[in-house]
This record gives sequence, C-alpha cells and structure tokens, in this order.
Amino acid sequence: MQVLSVASEVYPLIKTGGLADVAGALPLALKGYGVSVKTLMPGYPAVMRMVENATVRMSFESLLGAKADVLEVEHQGLDLLILDSPTFFDRPGGPYADATGKDHFDNWRRFAALSKAGAIIAQGGMAQGESGWQPDIVHVHDWQAAMVPAYMRYAAEPEIPTLVTIHNIAFQGQFGADIFPYLELPPHAFGIGGVEYFGGVGYLKAGLQTGWAISTVSPSYAEEILTPEFGMGLEGLLAYRAADLHGIVNGIDTGIWNPATDTAVKANYTAASLKTRAENKRAVAERFGLIEDDGPLFCVISRLTWQKGMDLLAEAVGDLVELGARLAVLGSGDRALENAFHAAAAHHPGRIAVLPTYDEPLSHLMQAGSDAIIIPSRFEPCGLTQLYGLRYGCIPVVARTGGLNDTVIDASHAALAAKTATGVSFGPVTAGNLRRALRRAVRLYRDPKVWTAMQKQGMKSDVSWEKSAGLYAELYKNLLARKGS
Ligand code: ADP
Ligand code: GLC
Repeated sequence: MQVLSVASEVYPLIKTGGLADVAGALPLALKGYGVSVKTLMPGYPAVMRMVENATVRMSFESLLGAKADVLEVEHQGLDLLILDSPTFFDRPGGPYADATGKDHFDNWRRFAALSKAGAIIAQGGMAQGESGWQPDIVHVHDWQAAMVPAYMRYAAEPEIPTLVTIHNIAFQGQFGADIFPYLELPPHAFGIGGVEYFGGVGYLKAGLQTGWAISTVSPSYAEEILTPEFGMGLEGLLAYRAADLHGIVNGIDTGIWNPATDTAVKANYTAASLKTRAENKRAVAERFGLIEDDGPLFCVISRLTWQKGMDLLAEAVGDLVELGARLAVLGSGDRALENAFHAAAAHHPGRIAVLPTYDEPLSHLMQAGSDAIIIPSRFEPCGLTQLYGLRYGCIPVVARTGGLNDTVIDASHAALAAKTATGVSFGPVTAGNLRRALRRAVRLYRDPKVWTAMQKQGMKSDVSWEKSAGLYAELYKNLLARKGS
C-alpha cells in the first residue's frame, strides 16, 4: 500500500515539537506492515541544506501565485517529497514564525500551497512517466496540511481516501474570509460543508469536514475533544463525525531513544544497570550548575506555555526546594513564564536552573540522568516526553489528561501492590494537586526499592510504534475498502 503523508515538520530535518517526531517515525514503523510512505514537507532552509542529490519530480509555474518544485530524496530511511518554493519557505526564522516570534504574515498562503501540492500529487500529479507514483491513501497532519482533503474534494479528479490526524486542536489555522478568493477554490467551497468557519476560513475545520476519517494521538484525547472544554469550538463538528473519529496513541522511535546505545548520554545503561544513571545525573547537574546531593533531580523538557501547565509548576517550585529536590528546566516559550523560572532560579541558586534553549542532545541526557520528569499539562493530545521518560527510567509525574492518562500508570496503593506503577499522576490539574503529586514522588524516591521497581516497570512498557503503526495500517485498509464499496 502506498501512502502520501503531508506534514509541516519531520524529524530529523526540522522539529519544533512532537509532530516532527511522529511524522519522522511512523513511516519507518509502517514499513513492517507493508505500507510505503512518501512524506511531503516544506523546503525550509534547514531542510534544503540537508538534502543532496534530490530529483525534481514536478514543477509548478504558479502554486497559489509562486513558483515551486517538488523534489524527491531519501533521507535516513525516509522517502521525502520536498516542496521547494523560495517565495514561501526560503526565509529566516522558524517554520511558522520569524525570529521575533511573530507568525509569518503569509502562513495561510504557505500552508494552503503545501496542501494544494499534496492534493495534486494525491490525485495523480506525479503518476506519469517511468517512475510515476500515485498513493492509495493520503494521511495529513494538523492544520498546516488539513486543506489537502478540501482541495481534493473540489478538484475534477476523483478523490482517494484521506485521514486527517489532529495533534493539537488548539492550533486550527483560522484566517479571515478575505483570503478565500486567493485559495483557488470554487465559490461554493466557502460554505458550512467546506472551508468556511465562523465567517472566516478554517483549515483544520475544512480537513475535519472533508477528510474521510479523523484520528487523534490518544484514545483519551479522542474523547476529550468531543467536549466544549477540550474541543476548542470544533466539538460539534467532531461529534457529527464521531463514527469516523479514532484515537491512536503515539509511539516513539526506540532506536533513537535507547539508553543502551544513545550517544548523547554520558553513560549508557539498561534496566539491569540503573545505578549507572548516577553518572548522567551528575552530568545534568553540572550542565545546569546545580549542586550535587542525594536528593531527587526533577526535570522539565517542554515549551513553556499555559497548555503545558508551566505556570502551575512555577507556583510549586518553592515546595520542590523545601522537599530537598532540584529542578532543571530546558525550554522556552511565553516570556512571563520564562521570567518566572529565571526568578525562581535566582531565588534558589544551585537548586533550580533554567536553560531557555532548544537542545536535542541535552534533552536525551536529561532523560538519562534526571530522576523524574514533570508534565503538568492542562491538555495533552499525546505527549512524547513521558514516553521517553518511561524508556529511560526517568519517572513521569503527569497531569491525568489526554495521552498522559493513557500511557502512565499512577503509583496508587493498588498499582504499587500489583507492581504495575510507572509514574505519578494527578488531577484535576491545579497547583495544589501538582504540589501533592510532587510530594508523593519525593516520598517514593526516598524508598529506593519501590522507586527502582517503578523505573524497571516503566522501562518494560511498550512505548514503541509497533502496535500503533499496526492500528494505522488497519485504518488505511478499512478506508481503502470503503473506496471500493
Ligand atoms: P508538543 O509537541 O506539544 O510540544 P510533545 O511532548 O509531543 O509536546 O513533544 C515535544 C518534543 O519536543 C519532544 O520530543 C521533546 O523532547 C522535545 N522538546 C521540547 N522542548 C525541548 C527543548 N527545549 N529542547 C529539546 N527538545 C525539546
Ligand atoms: C502535539 C501535542 C502533543 C503530541 C504531539 C505529537 O504537539 O501537543 O501532545 O504528542 O503533537 O502527536
């Protein structure tokens, strides 16, 4: 089976968050199920620097007003189709925003272009010639690619089955009605059954409306987004599409994330040599300028935002220090939250430290050396850092929501007795409950036998893509069958 995946970021070429990890790892896992994936992504400068010997597979004189080529290249086991359009993608800053953090002014046009190219390829745009290719299924990720099924719906060629995956419903790609004339869609596409959303244009909404099936990245989040609290305005449409809505939990690339072989950590280890983690713990303390003692070292590897509950943690850091713990924070985000952590670090030198940067290798070392990772998210479609934590014996302390709820087993009395506990979870998500969870984690840490048992249990849990890739393959198959019927 041939699949076209469309995503705005793909690890290891470009990453701002978990979407990249998923878009980079799922195609590799699907190979085991006889599914071949080509991934269409934008040719940002960082991506163009990494690709060599690419072949031009398609050229557009005007793709929503700009010249563009589709390049094909293989990169570390991934079959990539790169939308090379300097007008849209060759510019400083990140994928979505400039260096000051302001969204690129033409994001609506950049990602409509990505989606339109995806739709054209899906409907046979690359089918001609000796090396011609057309997918059986299109799988698109998040709002940046969600217009693919809409473009297909309003094109002359027949549709092929589409799956729209929601990684985070908080980001919807909502724009004013004034952009509609430039999208090159027929006038009737601007309606409730198409791209219209609250009087403007909604990219994710358009995908949820026109996609054959919808999935999100955990079973719990699939239920949560049907409610006004989590659905962010799309709960009605999702309820209407409930029969086509699936929750499939993310996995991780267990080759890249393997404490036994990871070259980014100081000392490799397995569940049988957990004591070796102490070397990594010292290395983390050193990198962050933290004192060394026998207390627990907590870490955060995250965007510092409201979604991630970072304001709640900022409120609770004093308690951590009182409990004899230390905290290393890696990440940047909202200025006010960054400042709150800087203030806490200044107040508790050697006990709390912040590095407001993005550092992939350091994130590996922190998973390998910290005792626990704190993830107090208000909502979390899946979350990957708790999965890395499980794999690395870094106990997750998590909010009981979304994918965190589906992947971490709380150290309740019953779970401890049954030896199934892998972490500490709390809810509802308040600063008070977070404080209590941190206190509970420190108490468990002070009981090395229990703590080690939890680490080992976590390291045993299946966080690979194996099972979930199978569920996607199954879903693709069902969609193909629907096409035939
Ligand atoms: P989200 O995509 O919502 O940010 P996820 O938990 O799904 O959350 O994925 C975040 C990904 O980004 C993980 O791979 C995590 O390790 C990584 N990450 C987040 N912040 C940093 C950082 N400051 N440095 C390195 N990696 C980071
Ligand atoms: C989003 C979500 C996160 C999820 C990731 C990958 O960024 O916020 O929870 O793990 O996508 O699916």
